[in-house]
Amino acid sequence: MKLSVVILAAGRGKRMKSRTPKILHEALGRPMVQYVIDAVKTLKPAKTIVVVGNGAEEVKGRIDDGHMTFVLQKELLGTGDALAIARKELLKGTVLVLNGDCPLIKAGTLKSLLAKHRRSKNVLSFLSFIDESMSGYGRIIRDGMGKVTGIVEDKHASPDERKMFNELNGGVYVMESETIGHLDKIKKNSLSGEYYLTDIIGIISRAGKRLDAYQCPSEEIRGVNSREELYEISTILKRRVISGWMKKGVTFIDPETAQVHVSASIGRDTIIYPNTYIEGRTSIGPNCTIYPGARIYDSVLGKGVTIKDNTLIEKSRVRDGASVGPCAHLRPDSIIGRNAKIGNFVEVKKSHIGAGTKAGHLTYLGDAEIGPGVNIGAGTITCNYDGKNKFKTYIKSGVFIGSDSQLVAPVTIEKNAYVAAGSTITRDVPSGALAIGRGRQKNLEGWTKREKGANSKESGISNNKKKKS
Ligand code: UD1
Ligand code: MG
Repeated sequence: MKLSVVILAAGRGKRMKSRTPKILHEALGRPMVQYVIDAVKTLKPAKTIVVVGNGAEEVKGRIDDGHMTFVLQKELLGTGDALAIARKELLKGTVLVLNGDCPLIKAGTLKSLLAKHRRSKNVLSFLSFIDESMSGYGRIIRDGMGKVTGIVEDKHASPDERKMFNELNGGVYVMESETIGHLDKIKKNSLSGEYYLTDIIGIISRAGKRLDAYQCPSEEIRGVNSREELYEISTILKRRVISGWMKKGVTFIDPETAQVHVSASIGRDTIIYPNTYIEGRTSIGPNCTIYPGARIYDSVLGKGVTIKDNTLIEKSRVRDGASVGPCAHLRPDSIIGRNAKIGNFVEVKKSHIGAGTKAGHLTYLGDAEIGPGVNIGAGTITCNYDGKNKFKTYIKSGVFIGSDSQLVAPVTIEKNAYVAAGSTITRDVPSGALAIGRGRQKNLEGWTKREKGANSKESGISNNKKKKS
């Protein structure tokens, strides 16, 4: 039997108080609906239909992978109406319907719901949960025999219903395509003006067809309706991800304050200190140490790399044994070679730093190709921009750049050359040469005495040592 999946994702998400469509709000760096899509993918459905409405183009732009069918719900008339719109796209067979706002759902739970549905020969099966701490969900009504007879939304439930029925609706339904016909019988809710998909439960029950609710852990079907709930599910996701890496041999000094996106990976025996953010498609190799306050996104770190405190690494590559920070910034397209050292307050942009090369302090290296074994003195700046265009600086292997030098690009410093401290280099330096590009020092003997001598005692700049009293 063919499986079609419908993800309901058109809602406004009023309670989020946001211009961004609710299901695009991110948890651990990924839109919440993407988690639902990923869980569904493992079921290998014949067709996945996403109902979009609020911010439809934005939603499509973010999640379209070419394998989904989008249908537009022009007027947001409720979950029942949303499924009715998807109806024309459904294949004959089994249909899985989920809300797009439940990112914690696990593929295994969906698989077991499908299995139970098949075994029981229900026309409709759905997920439920019991959790006194959660409010605002539909309450499942069962008769004296324990048979499901309907769902009443929490906000419309009477105090008695609230007391009696504590099993809640997870918003994940499996039904046979023929069952969908019952959608036509759903009436507009008089209190909200919406068509509730949940009303189909009572309709099917009254028609005497088989249906049932199956409980799953409440954590998995937590819906996100507010910023607080977004935070709660982000925290649960974060714990899931971090404990996954701990099981694979990664140490977290304080997992509560570290963030690791689902799309990132970390090697064995790597140590992650508190307040670190490992984001996007970052891959960290084994035996690395990431000290507090680092943020690393879309970057690749090799083996045994050290990232010291308060360092930002963006879309860059750091090869085996290299060390970056404290307080360093690797901007996109930087490559730090094996065992290289990028130190305190150093900014690197779109540059290649050779193996074993050191830039220890207060330096800007932009659009530079730097060979291996180079020493970059404190305060060195590659002047790569003339206000209109960017130019490259080439520093070949074994070069020594003295402190506080400016290299005005385009410029090349050939192999084993030296640049004297405080130089402004505007012309290429040949291999093995010493370049000095600074004003010559002149010492004016006795100047202080001549200029200031008369006033020196009053102004307190006398050279005489104070007499001890
Ligand atoms: C819904 C269920 C509730 C269940 C809960 C589980 C209904 C009436 N209620 O409530 O029983 O406990 O989910 O999380 O179904 N959507 C559309 N078009 C619309 C309205 C909503 O596509 O016109 C989409 C939303 O984008 C969302 C999903 O449907 O992804 C659920 O809508 P939401 O407003 O969050 O429903 P809840 O109040 O959470
Ligand atoms: Mg919801």
